[in-house]
Amino acid sequence: MSKKTLTITDNRNGNLYEFDIKKGSCGPDVADLTSFYEKTGMFVYDPGFKSTASCSSEITFIDGEKGVLLHRGYEIEELAEKSDYYEVCYLLLNGDLPDNKNKEKFINILTHHTMLHEQIQRFYSGFRRDSHPMAVMVGIVGALSSFYPEKTYDFSSEKGKWVAVSRLLAKIPTMAAMAYKYSLGQPFIYPKNNLSYSENFLHMLFSTPCGEYKPSKASIDALDKLLILHADHEQNASTSTVKIAGSSGANPFACVAAGVASLWGPAHGGANESVIRMLNIIEHEQHINKFLKKAKDPSDPFRLMGFGHRVYKSHDPRANVLRKYCHNLLKEVDNFNVPLFKLATKLEEIALNDDYFIKKQLYPNVDFYSGIILKALGLPESMFTVIFAVARTVGWISQWKEMTESDNRISRPRQLYNGKKTRKFVKINDRKSKHELFLDYNQ
Ligand code: SDX
Repeated sequence: MSKKTLTITDNRNGNLYEFDIKKGSCGPDVADLTSFYEKTGMFVYDPGFKSTASCSSEITFIDGEKGVLLHRGYEIEELAEKSDYYEVCYLLLNGDLPDNKNKEKFINILTHHTMLHEQIQRFYSGFRRDSHPMAVMVGIVGALSSFYPEKTYDFSSEKGKWVAVSRLLAKIPTMAAMAYKYSLGQPFIYPKNNLSYSENFLHMLFSTPCGEYKPSKASIDALDKLLILHADHEQNASTSTVKIAGSSGANPFACVAAGVASLWGPAHGGANESVIRMLNIIEHEQHINKFLKKAKDPSDPFRLMGFGHRVYKSHDPRANVLRKYCHNLLKEVDNFNVPLFKLATKLEEIALNDDYFIKKQLYPNVDFYSGIILKALGLPESMFTVIFAVARTVGWISQWKEMTESDNRISRPRQLYNGKKTRKFVKINDRKSKHELFLDYNQ
């Protein structure tokens, strides 16, 4: 059978260029344009990478039109329903769900690396108490790279990669809980080896030296599902950030710190915090239409946080699962959030029937309900994206590890240059500035 190719005609000179078409196991085919510049002397222009496949991967598949999310072939709904976070981490990292023996070994490895070097505690005291916990996480995760230096660990070796993977997975909840405790002025709580991943995390977040926090089963389940639903999501902004940093051979702990920074943005992982702030501003159902109007006004920067997605153009399957757990948790754990949940479900109902949102294919995404669950668990908005970072660490390091085992060239995009052409240097006395410097020295 003849090779599948894409032919492009340059109608300025009639030149024809042929490129191979690559087929994946599912999803869109890709045109292999790696030789595009070589053949045509042009770059491919795709700011925001809406039409760009940056790599090949076997970890996560998303079908945005059908609202499908698979992790190594397993549907996210099934994993959320029948599996747990340990198993999903193992699946993302190893390509298959663990058998009993490997699950026990994996849990044992993670459990015995949850503690941090005692000196890391001093990094926290350098932050203002009112620092955003994501600012702290960027700093602390980056600092961890100094405790796992390249001179001691060869991160290009299988052993070195697994050290990075296991330490980051094991320690990220500890670092996150410490960021929360630091913001409260409370003492840090050490992890306990007899608790599961989610239970241990809740223990470190809410126990104090004066009293042990015993989370309900509903809370532990809700957090475990939340971690599963946020674990990985193909080549999203923060994962791409980790991989671009990793493509230069940078220390994996520093790469994950870069991913934390990227996730922080309100257009990405910061949206869960913005959803709650938005719901609190909307406050009552009768205000919903006023804010929908603002969201539809192109001159108004207001956007409906928790709605829309670069890939999902029918529904985010994670939002559907989260809505269900949100409902269950509120019944079990805390009725305080019922008004917020009711407002969220009403807002969703109205928006889903609004012509603008239907036309723009804007549906609730993973962040729309996660904030309500996190609030019901007793966390402040400022910690919501931190929890997302804890959950996504496994996705970041799975994708980083896969990258190190495949095409490992440095990621270095080009550009369309619209700046000044070559011009002569001008002496300072001959220069006439057209504008004043924006800031003054005392601003
Ligand atoms: C996550 O990539 C991932 O996989 C991310 C994530 C993951 O698991 O890693 O799924 C997690 O980040 C979820 C998204 C969380 N962000 C938000 O909820 C913030 C609100 N949403 C938007 O900022 C926006 O929808 C994005 C950033 C999510 C997607 O942006 P795109 O793909 O660049 O789409 P766009 O901004 O070009 O929007 C298309 C149109 C625009 O109108 P026009 O310029 O065509 O006239 O839809 C409008 C937008 O103005 N639009 C919205 C809107 N989102 C898009 N209008 C009102 N409210 C919104 N929320």
